[in-house]
Amino acid sequence: MHCREIPLTVWVLMFISTSEETCTSRLHITAVEGEPFYLKYCSSSPEHGKKTTTIKWYKNESHGPVDLSLRSSPRILLRDYVLEFWPVELSDSGSYSFQMGNDTHDWKLNVIPRSPHSCFTEKLVMSKAVEVKKSLQIPCEHNYYQQLANRTVLYKNCEKMENNQNPFLKNAEFKDQGYYTCVFFLHHNGKLFNVTKTFNITIVGDHSNIIPALLGPKIEEVKVELGKDIQLNCSALLNEKDIIYWNTWRKNGKDPNVHEGEVTRIRTSEGKWLASTILRIENVNTRNLNFSYNCTAVNEGGIDTKSFLLLLKEDMVDIPGHVFTRGMIVAVVISVVVVCLVTMGVIYRVDLVLFYRHFMGRDETLTAVVDEIHSLIEKSRRLIIVLSKSYMSSEVRYELESGLHEALVERKIKIILIEFTPVGDFRFLPQSLKLLKSHRVLKWKADKSLSYNSRFWKNLLYLMPAKAVKPCRDESEVLPVLLKS
Ligand SMILES: *[C@@H]1O[C@H](CO)[C@@H](O)[C@H](O)[C@H]1NC(C)=O
Ligand SMILES: *[C@@H]1O[C@H](CO)[C@@H](O)[C@H](O)[C@H]1NC(C)=O
Ligand SMILES: *[C@@H]1O[C@H](CO)[C@@H](O)[C@H](O)[C@H]1NC(C)=O
Ligand SMILES: *[C@@H]1O[C@H](CO)[C@@H](O)[C@H](O)[C@H]1NC(C)=O
Ligand SMILES: *[C@@H]1O[C@H](CO)[C@@H](O)[C@H](O)[C@H]1NC(C)=O
Repeated sequence: MHCREIPLTVWVLMFISTSEETCTSRLHITAVEGEPFYLKYCSSSPEHGKKTTTIKWYKNESHGPVDLSLRSSPRILLRDYVLEFWPVELSDSGSYSFQMGNDTHDWKLNVIPRSPHSCFTEKLVMSKAVEVKKSLQIPCEHNYYQQLANRTVLYKNCEKMENNQNPFLKNAEFKDQGYYTCVFFLHHNGKLFNVTKTFNITIVGDHSNIIPALLGPKIEEVKVELGKDIQLNCSALLNEKDIIYWNTWRKNGKDPNVHEGEVTRIRTSEGKWLASTILRIENVNTRNLNFSYNCTAVNEGGIDTKSFLLLLKEDMVDIPGHVFTRGMIVAVVISVVVVCLVTMGVIYRVDLVLFYRHFMGRDETLTAVVDEIHSLIEKSRRLIIVLSKSYMSSEVRYELESGLHEALVERKIKIILIEFTPVGDFRFLPQSLKLLKSHRVLKWKADKSLSYNSRFWKNLLYLMPAKAVKPCRDESEVLPVLLKS
């Protein structure tokens, strides 16, 4: 592979060096004012050989030739075979001569004004046709000024191109057609100049013809409503000169409500044409139904036809649009309100309960206590009542009474009454307590804790339900706390 690449490189280098030939061989030259410009004599022999002979540049004025070396102008530079203008002006138009020994050469220079509205001059464009899909290349190269230019900008139709690759290269599309201007920026004697080079690029289609092809199915059913207007769009991919048309004739003539539209053509990126024609049917009636409206595209190479069939739209049980919209709005609003209320309820539930209680005047505190007593009584086999004056209030009395009723009437619970204060000291005592058998009443007479062996504790133990003694059990667990002291 590598061996093959070497001759190719050499070939490219040779190509570049020949294209370096920058001399001006044409007789008539056009230049644009304000741009750097040069004339270069095309020497038939190598430059070095003749350097010794004197070189003269003349401008041929009406009164005769003027030696340019004698006319001092900072704009005009003489460099052997080259005459440079920095820049060329309208007044530079005229005939120029180069003289070297017996060799002479003449040019007719025409300097034209710069276009005030455009970035290029139409007279100086190079036209180039590029076939679509083939390579489009804009080489921003300048044989003479390339070395001096330190910036090159490409414009398309005088708009700076974003993708400023050089050379600009892509597969041609029709949209690429336009004027491409390369602007070379040069510095000379501390001034900034620019030289332009503009290509007029035309994209041409390939010349192969296609068979016209209509878009969509061969038979297209169109649902219509009577009294409405409808448009049938027939489109085909075809060549520039191909024909597309509607066939809407019946035996008894054309329907008066059927109108054939103009054919519109758009060039595709492939260089073919997308042609469309519209058939407009106004105020659709039953005559228009079940009839084939045919569309045809044709050229010498082939033909394509398509049928449009109008069918009546089935009556759909549909909610009218405005009712549906209103329903949706109401549903959404209700949902939002419900969500808000639930959220508020969760956040302010304590406040809501307090508010409710405040207005209903409910008092649940009593039942709470009573229920507790009831449930405890239900689980018990003995009810020990310690009578103490300081503890006897009217509320407790009520609870005690109802508890006693539960214990004595409904359940078989035995009561043990411990008189901490003598019964006689109470002005009110439940009747049932007074009826209690005397052996079930224990009187506390001491003023300090009594020992476990005392008569009082033995009597209490006796009144309590008998319990099987578990041998392994630690004694302290069974004993009441009071005994320990
Ligand atoms: C090129 O130079 C001319 C003056 O010689 C100036 O009017 C023009 O704007 C310059 N173009 C750009 C692209 O800078
Ligand atoms: C550019 O090329 C098109 C197509 O060849 C041509 O019609 C047009 O006149 C050209 N424009 C200029 C300014 O030469
Ligand atoms: C272009 O060249 C000028 C003069 O040689 C120099 O001052 C300037 O920095 C250069 N600009 C760039 C972008 O190279
Ligand atoms: C008809 O259909 C073609 C292809 O789909 C489309 O480009 C064109 O805009 C349509 N014409 C109308 C009037 O809708
Ligand atoms: C339309 O085309 C269909 C199928 O090709 C054909 O049967 C029908 O007669 C044509 N109608 C008209 C009006 O040409």
